[in-house]
Amino acid sequence: MAKIIVTGGCGYIGSQTIIELLKKTDFDVVSIDNGINSSENVLERIKMITGKEVKNYCVDLCDYEATQKVFKANPDTIGIIHFAALKSVGDSVNNPVLYYHNNMESLLNVVKCCQEFNVKNFIFSSSCSVYGNVQSLPVTEETALSEVVSPYAHTKLMAEQMIKFIADQYDINFILLRYFNPVGGDLSGMNGEDPVNPPSNLVPVITQTASGVREKMLVFGDDYDTRDGSCVRDYIHVIDIADAHLKGLDRLIKGTNTSSYEIYNLGTGNGVSVLEAIKAFEEETQVQLNYEIVPRRPGDVAAIYSNSEKAKKELGWIPQYNIREMMSSAWKWQLYINSKN
Ligand code: WQD
Repeated sequence: MAKIIVTGGCGYIGSQTIIELLKKTDFDVVSIDNGINSSENVLERIKMITGKEVKNYCVDLCDYEATQKVFKANPDTIGIIHFAALKSVGDSVNNPVLYYHNNMESLLNVVKCCQEFNVKNFIFSSSCSVYGNVQSLPVTEETALSEVVSPYAHTKLMAEQMIKFIADQYDINFILLRYFNPVGGDLSGMNGEDPVNPPSNLVPVITQTASGVREKMLVFGDDYDTRDGSCVRDYIHVIDIADAHLKGLDRLIKGTNTSSYEIYNLGTGNGVSVLEAIKAFEEETQVQLNYEIVPRRPGDVAAIYSNSEKAKKELGWIPQYNIREMMSSAWKWQLYINSKN
């Protein structure tokens, strides 16, 4: 049976995408993940949810020979989803060289292997952070990119620019997916965001605060030029994000893509403020959150949300989950991991 390689398959979005691949397609799936920000125990959860085993190759994608060996061992591979990257905005500011080396070297090695082993369908995990501090909202794929505000975002922007030249020369078709703010977990409650390092993203901070893992949470600024002064983001359920990857693969494998380099926004199109997200969580779970409003966090943009009409029209992708459902699935996951600790 045709196989899909998922790099970063033990990570948050990677593991959820594997779950959706195993539930909704007939592909065989293997993961390449060196565990730098994930743990292989996610594979047991994938087995519990889907009933299927997934093999993970614990390989550093910056090691070309080791990566090459994985492709050689999986000659039936017809597509790749490349999630593996360091992705903490704050950490990238403190460790720029680590981010530039890891994120670029790994991408280039994976592309080289795809060329060498004739894997023609490549889905790349990009980010709305390539837009920088945009002024015109909602953001479409044609919105002019402003200056990126972190090395992390810069690695995603450089990756997109490199892939454009590569797509012209190599016999590989690429779809780049610009995620807005992925949140939530598997509806079973048995998979979700589980980074090795303490999370800094809003929703895991909310659920850790609600469950007592954190005594309180901070709201970074309520003096922005937005509805209620707090930052606005486009939160999108991780299952919706995962489904977009399946639709992108389908488009490339069927050859209905109109170019070897296609970019799609993945967001709901609804901007939600931090305070509105907190309210949605409290209403959904009936758990009151202990939060304190403090000054702004450096690097935050006031507002960004998407126009994802292009993905709807060309991929047939329609987000299924609203902010309340995102919060309830995130809460279910937090209660699950708390019960395991
Ligand atoms: C959201 C809002 C914070 C924590 C993320 C990823 C980035 C990219 C885009 C994929 C901001 C506020 C947060 C807290 C808070 N995704 N906040 N208190 O910064 O939009 O970026 O999505 O590539 O990789 O990092 O997400 O969840 O950190 O912040 O007030 O304890 O919540 O100030 O306004 P962000 P986030």
